[in-house]
Amino acid sequence: MSTSLKNVRRVTTHVLQEMKAKGEKIAMLTAYDYSIARLVDSAGIDVILVGDSASNVMAGHETTLPITLDQMIYHAQGVVRGCERSLIVVDLPFGTYQGNSKGALNSAIRIMKESGAHAVKLEGGKEVLGSVERILSAGIPVMGHLGLTPQSIYKFGTYVVRAKEQEEADRLRSDALLLQQAGCFAIVLEKIPAKLASEVAKSVSIPVIGIGAGGDVDGQVLVVHDMLGINTEFNPRFLRRYADLHEVITGAVANYVKDVRSRNFPNSEEQY
Ligand code: KIV
Repeated sequence: MSTSLKNVRRVTTHVLQEMKAKGEKIAMLTAYDYSIARLVDSAGIDVILVGDSASNVMAGHETTLPITLDQMIYHAQGVVRGCERSLIVVDLPFGTYQGNSKGALNSAIRIMKESGAHAVKLEGGKEVLGSVERILSAGIPVMGHLGLTPQSIYKFGTYVVRAKEQEEADRLRSDALLLQQAGCFAIVLEKIPAKLASEVAKSVSIPVIGIGAGGDVDGQVLVVHDMLGINTEFNPRFLRRYADLHEVITGAVANYVKDVRSRNFPNSEEQY
């Protein structure tokens, strides 16, 4: 069967809204380049996130903080060229939207103009509301992100589960409502108790996509390198591995090295 998805209906923010209304779960994954985006898109994913996790899995940084707007745009351009169906959301990187709504709008406009993506995502609630509203006022769809927000890792000091305490849980509930009222089309909830995530998903009418937030939300997102088993060092409880590409790739490369050294590659058929 061909994996080409030509003439399929593009997923839009409205489609996601309809999916929530019908109780259909939304499947979202990250991608950072043309080739993986093409595979992920043709396999039927609804939303592709060009996440600032590119800073970790593509560039090898310890945190998401170093990645720049230019680098995010470069990743997003490749993803856009590889996709026919998915809605493509791009993370606004650290330092491009906090505390400066004009700067936030300029950053979001650059992403939309230079990459051709369909929406942006940013981390935080009340503290970034000015930026969210200003971006939305330009007609750019915004996805929120609450719970564990990796751009604030030096404030948290650790990647443990967030909002276990009443005060933080209450703040998260109210931030979700604020993001909805501002006009966000969806919210990611990262690494929070499943019960809280379920309550939040029921309290808002926009889709809530979880990562480490249990199954009773409107959709799930994972980092593609983690779920394909390319990275083996990252093993949080919420991660399910659907492949062991680490094994496949290192095995294939080791065979290639062996064949080159033994003069087995190339053979007479593999030359001109
Ligand atoms: O950057 C990213 O990959 C993300 C997901 C973990 C939601 O924000």
